[in-house]
Amino acid sequence: MSRITLTRYLIERQHAGRIDAALRLLIEVVARACKEIAIAVGKGALGQVLGEAGRENVQGEAQKKLDVLANEILLEANEWGGHLAALVSEELATPHTIPNRYPKGEYLLVFDPLDGSSNIDVNVSVGTIFSVLRLPPGCSDPTPDCFLQPGRQQVAAGYAVYGPSTLLVLTVGEGVAVFTLDREVGSFVLTRERLSIPESTSEFAINMSNMRYWEPPVRRYIEELLAGKEGPRGRDFNMRWVASMVADVHRILCRGGIFLYPLDEKTRAKGGRLRLLYEANPMAMIVEQAGGLASTGRERILDVLPKDLHQRVPVILGSREEVERVEALHRA
Ligand code: F6P
Repeated sequence: MSRITLTRYLIERQHAGRIDAALRLLIEVVARACKEIAIAVGKGALGQVLGEAGRENVQGEAQKKLDVLANEILLEANEWGGHLAALVSEELATPHTIPNRYPKGEYLLVFDPLDGSSNIDVNVSVGTIFSVLRLPPGCSDPTPDCFLQPGRQQVAAGYAVYGPSTLLVLTVGEGVAVFTLDREVGSFVLTRERLSIPESTSEFAINMSNMRYWEPPVRRYIEELLAGKEGPRGRDFNMRWVASMVADVHRILCRGGIFLYPLDEKTRAKGGRLRLLYEANPMAMIVEQAGGLASTGRERILDVLPKDLHQRVPVILGSREEVERVEALHRA
């Protein structure tokens, strides 16, 4: 059977009237940028790209050289195609508008150029997460407000994982497709379509070292899991924590599980740990499209109305049964 490349997949969606030409171009451009980032990540120490950049991002986090490089690759790739009105990145304080010398489009791109960057220097999987929104009516010169849309308004979302192989996981609102980078040919090839998260699971992902800071519902939920066969859940659960959201969420998409970065005393003042626009929302859209749930514990992530570009939220997502259990404990 002939291989379905990302290009063909997108053209077929365009012919079916599911996406327009500008969105197709946008996703292709992001995918091309991810290939470039994959090459830089893959060179490791030989590429002189490991280590600190020697400066901080807008959120006061030390930037890695690869954070800066991945951000530049995505900005440069997306500036000139005419498909975007503006971009927001984890690494930038304010939206990056399209320079006047280039045509402007009707979409907004939001991204975390290199998620899990604490893992770069130790050769563990990292990734890029992105979300696409429409430019709202009346936003001719995009201000931060134009980006403050609830996640349910995303028209596409995806992530790339730079692991043993490079993957691109994508939704344009009709299921989740996984593409694997064929490094020899240089194209993303469809390797899984209509990905569906198992409804029940025996695996969870959380940073257990924060246990003493958790709120009672999350503490109780994890205690139930840890009690295993002898506890209220009547079976043993296993735990995994890579500390790269892309890697943890990807594992959960493939074999089920629940991912939690809940609200805790350490992050309460900031509203949570993970960022709504370019981490929680795109992952929530993908997880829902795969049949799972994504919640803050108190509400659906995709319904949260953002107030700030770099807003943080609690994130609880994955297999339906588990997320429902955590939500029920929050209501109790
Ligand atoms: O926000 C970035 C991130 O690196 C996520 O990819 C990951 O899930 C989380 O932070 C890890 O946080 P911690 O270092 O607290 O385990």
